[in-house]
This record gives sequence, structure tokens and C-alpha cells, in this order.
Amino acid sequence: MKIRTQVGIVGAGPAGLVLSQLLHREGIESVVVEARSREYCEQRVRAGVLEQGTVELLTDMGVGGRMKREGLIHDGVEVRFNGRGHRLDFKELTGRSITIYAQQEVVKDLIAVRLTAGAEILFETEALSVHDFDSAEPKIGFKARGESSEVHCDFIAGCDGFHGVCRPSIAEALTFYERVFPFAWLGILAAAPPSSEELIYCYHERGFALHSMRSPELTRLYLQCAPDEDLANWSDEKIWEELQTRLTTRDGSRLTEGQILQKGVTGMRSFVVDPMQRGRLYLAGDAAHIVPPTGAKGLNLAVADVRVLAEAIAEFYRSGNTHRLEHYSERCLRRVWLVQRFSLWMTTMLHRFPGSDAFERHRQLADLDYLTSSRAAAQAFAENYVGLPMN
Ligand code: FAD
Ligand code: DHB
Repeated sequence: MKIRTQVGIVGAGPAGLVLSQLLHREGIESVVVEARSREYCEQRVRAGVLEQGTVELLTDMGVGGRMKREGLIHDGVEVRFNGRGHRLDFKELTGRSITIYAQQEVVKDLIAVRLTAGAEILFETEALSVHDFDSAEPKIGFKARGESSEVHCDFIAGCDGFHGVCRPSIAEALTFYERVFPFAWLGILAAAPPSSEELIYCYHERGFALHSMRSPELTRLYLQCAPDEDLANWSDEKIWEELQTRLTTRDGSRLTEGQILQKGVTGMRSFVVDPMQRGRLYLAGDAAHIVPPTGAKGLNLAVADVRVLAEAIAEFYRSGNTHRLEHYSERCLRRVWLVQRFSLWMTTMLHRFPGSDAFERHRQLADLDYLTSSRAAAQAFAENYVGLPMN
């Protein structure tokens, strides 16, 4: 089998799907090759915080209807330490807000819109190779019903996440920057109403904890744990007990508990490749960079990349001009490093580092004290959290 299209996209995560829809709106055809089933992509529980710019883009793209109805708009967050909460008011500090709407819901909405428009998304089709990207007709190799097949295209977008096939195919042309953290997050989804109207980022001597939510009936909570944590050691009871301990306040308020519907452990790393392109292959999203989840940026950064890529590809088809394509990586990496900086700063301030001494803990508390007592510090935090401007 041979398929011919303008842009071959590897991966139907947020990056690949948003790209495919942005291109469609410019009249550019694409084919998406996705290793997993549609059901798997639509059920995968991951991020939940959308920057205002992401929400605006999804809305402009025609996929904002359900998000507008079901998403929860938050004008601030709480930062909790020493048993006390401090609210940081984004709306007042920046005029902007965030929206809580689960990644898998964004993915569901995007898949529905793409399929309704007649798009080709090849689910359960693993890309086995990408090649010829130094020629005018790069190709994505895959197997269909046991037969070797290819997508022939003008450009390949490697939107295949951290474990995909695209980045390794150009590894020799890349410089890697990486930091792996000595802890992970144990995340749960619970059938319990949120215990606070907003997110709570909590520093505790036993480790970081985060209170988030998905709806008025569903709470999403995270606990700092060991990088190789075995979920078998964490009964539901133990998870609730640890969350209660870390998130406890001096006035004794407690989390509302409920049945745990899902649990998982997420490793934490900072990772960047430079450049994010080679010939006619462009990497976007987790394929090119990973941020630790503390700043809630992974999904938003993936969307920011493909916005730049879609503009560059559209310019090429409009005028033959390759200037934006040539500068794709440079434009993306500026934002990538700003977001890396912010995510690393939040991670360092809020987590317990194994072996850290009393000096380090006092420094972290001073960081938190400054953040919650200086308007300038709060504003810098808020500006990053709601999302830096696109340009
Ligand atoms: P992905 O969503 O990873 O999509 C890549 C797609 O490519 C996948 O569908 C995959 O199946 C497909 N694929 C891979 N290889 C191939 C191949 N060879 N052929 C075809 N298809 C392929 N961020 C936060 O901000 N907060 C969080 O709480 C948070 N939690 C996370 C939990 C986990 C377990 C993970 C892995 C990530 C989490 N993230 C979180 C990060 C956020 O979800 C990602 O940044 C976001 O999904 C990036 O989107 P993407 O489209 O670049 O990649
Ligand atoms: C969520 C995830 C994050 O990484 C974060 O910083 C805040 C919220 C969430 O899943 O809701």
C-alpha cells in the first residue's frame, strides 16, 4: 500500500491532532499514523491544565464547544506550605486564567472533528521508520495487514511522543540536554468532589502533593514518590492517608475521600533536543522535549510547537517561501527553554530532594515565602503559569 499526502504526521496525541486540524483549516491535507487504537488514545489519563492561549487556539480551530461547556475556568491557584494556604490570583495579576479540561477530552474532541471532516487517521498503525527526509519526498514506513506500506509526503511531522520513532531517526544530527529527577509522581483519579475550588500546590517535609480536579465529581491528586515506586505497595487507604498528611492545614481541613478510579506513576525529567528539525522532518511536542509536570506545561508546549509548524507549512504552500520552515526550531526552542526554566524552578521549589539538608529546606521555604509575599514574584509566577505570549 502507498498513500500520498502533503503532510505525514506520526502520532495522534495533542501535537499531531492539533497540527492536522490547523493544516486542514489552511486547505492542506495530512495523514496521521497512530500506533494505538482510537479507544486507547481517548482514554489515556494525563494532563489537565490548559493555558488561556491553548483554549483560544482550540476555540478558533472549531474544537472548543464541549471544552467551553465542561471545562472549569480557574482564576488562581493556592500554594500551601507550613500548613497554610496562600492564593495567587492570576486574573488580578495578569488579566488571564487557566482552564481545567482533561487531555483525553481534548484528544476526543480533536479526533471527532478530524474524522467528521473526512480526515485519514490510521489507528493501530505503528510507524516503523521515517526516511528520505533529505529529499523532496520523505516517507513514513509501516505495516498494514502484514504488508510493508508507506506514506509519501512533502513533509513529516514527528509528533510521536518521547518514545516514538522520529527522534531516534535523526539522533546523530541532534544535541541532547537532559536532567532526570530522583523522584516521580503517583497520580490518582478519585470519585470525590474536589476539596477546594482551585488547584493546590503543596510543599511538605514528606514531599510534594498536588490537588487538582476534572469535574465537580472527580478529583485528581498527585504525591511525590520514589522514581521506581511500586504501585503494589500503595493501597487506596495508604494513598489517602499520605495525601491527608501532606495537604493538612493548621485549621484541620481535610480532603474529601472517594473511590480511587485510576492510579499511575509518572517519572520526571527535563529534556530538550536541538535542533527540532532535519531536512523535511520536524519534531513537535514530547518527541522534542519533556518538562517535569509541576508547571502543567507539557500539553501546552506541544500545542505551541505545532502552531508554529502549521504557520510555516502554510506559508510554504502559499508562496513557496521556506523562511519560516528553516527557522521552525529556533522559534520553538526559545519558548521551550523559557518553559523548561519555569518548570524546573517550580519542581525545585516544591519537591523534597533525597539527601537534601536543612539549608536546602530553608532555601525552599524562603522561595515560597517570597512567592507568596511579593507582588512582583507572584506576577512573574502568574505570567508563566497562565502561559507566556506566543510571540
Ligand atoms: P503524546 O501525547 O505522547 O502523543 C504521541 C502519540 O504518538 C501517542 O498517541 C503514541 O501512541 C504515538 N506514537 C508513538 N510512537 C509511535 C509510532 N512509532 N508510530 C505511530 N504512533 C506512535 N503533562 C502535564 O502538564 N501534566 C501532567 O499531569 C502530565 N501527566 C503525564 C502523565 C504521563 C504518564 C505522561 C506520559 C505525560 C504526562 N504529561 C503531563 C505530559 C503531557 O501529557 C504531554 O506533554 C503531551 O501528551 C504531549 O503531547 P504529544 O502529542 O507531543 O505526545
Ligand atoms: C494537573 C497536572 C499537573 O502537572 C499540574 O501541574 C497541575 C494539574 C492535572 O492533572 O490536573
